[in-house]
Amino acid sequence: MNKTSIITVKNLTKRYNKKEVLCISELNALHGRILGLIGPSGAGKSTLLRILNMLEEPTTGEVSYLQQPAPVSQTGKLQLRRKMTMVFQKAALLDTSVYNNVAFGLQARKVPKQEIRERVLAMLDDIGMLALSQQRAKTLSGGEAQRIAFARALVLQPEILFLDEPTANLDPPNVELLEGMIARLNQDHGTTILFVTHNLFQARRLCHDTAFFYQGKLIETRETEQLFTSSQKEQTRAFVEGKMIY
Ligand SMILES: Nc1ncnc2c1ncn2[C@@H]1O[C@H](COP(=O)(O)OP(=O)(O)OP(=O)(O)O)[C@@H](O)[C@H]1O
Ligand SMILES: [Mg+2]
Repeated sequence: MNKTSIITVKNLTKRYNKKEVLCISELNALHGRILGLIGPSGAGKSTLLRILNMLEEPTTGEVSYLQQPAPVSQTGKLQLRRKMTMVFQKAALLDTSVYNNVAFGLQARKVPKQEIRERVLAMLDDIGMLALSQQRAKTLSGGEAQRIAFARALVLQPEILFLDEPTANLDPPNVELLEGMIARLNQDHGTTILFVTHNLFQARRLCHDTAFFYQGKLIETRETEQLFTSSQKEQTRAFVEGKMIY
């Protein structure tokens, strides 16, 4: 098992208007593994993903990527950002065709046109949406739109993928399809995935490791089965056993 840390968080805090919403002494996302982030609403999970994806700055503390401190130069930031991508709970698609939505990130990276075409069509085929490539994205159903949001992220072949409740609004067949895509991406490409979910069954199915957050604090990170079956922490046990009322 490869235990290299691809993202390391040390002594990180985040405050909004003097209120501390996140406090993590240490967290490691291990290379090639799926790390689940679970915890009650408001625990700070999305805030952490935004910080790791460099959409926001921590108030104090450090995040390093592959044992290197987060870059400060604009070029360094851009290079790192291009290795990471994020899928949100609700897809915000561009008001253009399905094809253009999936092609957009590759165009921004100046990938040659023919290669873009091949990669986009292969990706649409993979998710069973090739026939809809010319449909306007805003006319898609919720499940279809979320599949396109995934396709748009995956076509970039990121090294790190952040998922913030990507299947929360979907019906079981779409959940199954997207879970399959996540697992395959991890197995076939070794993509490191950080995955926020409220669905504890899903965390157990998909995540190698799981981190439990409560009121802004990282309570513990363990291999998923251990966290669910043999945690010594009272709050973790209450949460995974469904006894925590929040
Ligand atoms: N921009 C902001 N300004 C002020 N407070 C914020 C901001 N963003 C988040 N918060 C607060 O930070 C806390 C953590 O929010 P966050 O969205 O990270 O929680 P979460 O664990 O993702 O919750 P959920 O499971 O409901 O999505 C919340 O109390 C929230 O109100
Ligand atoms: Mg959230």
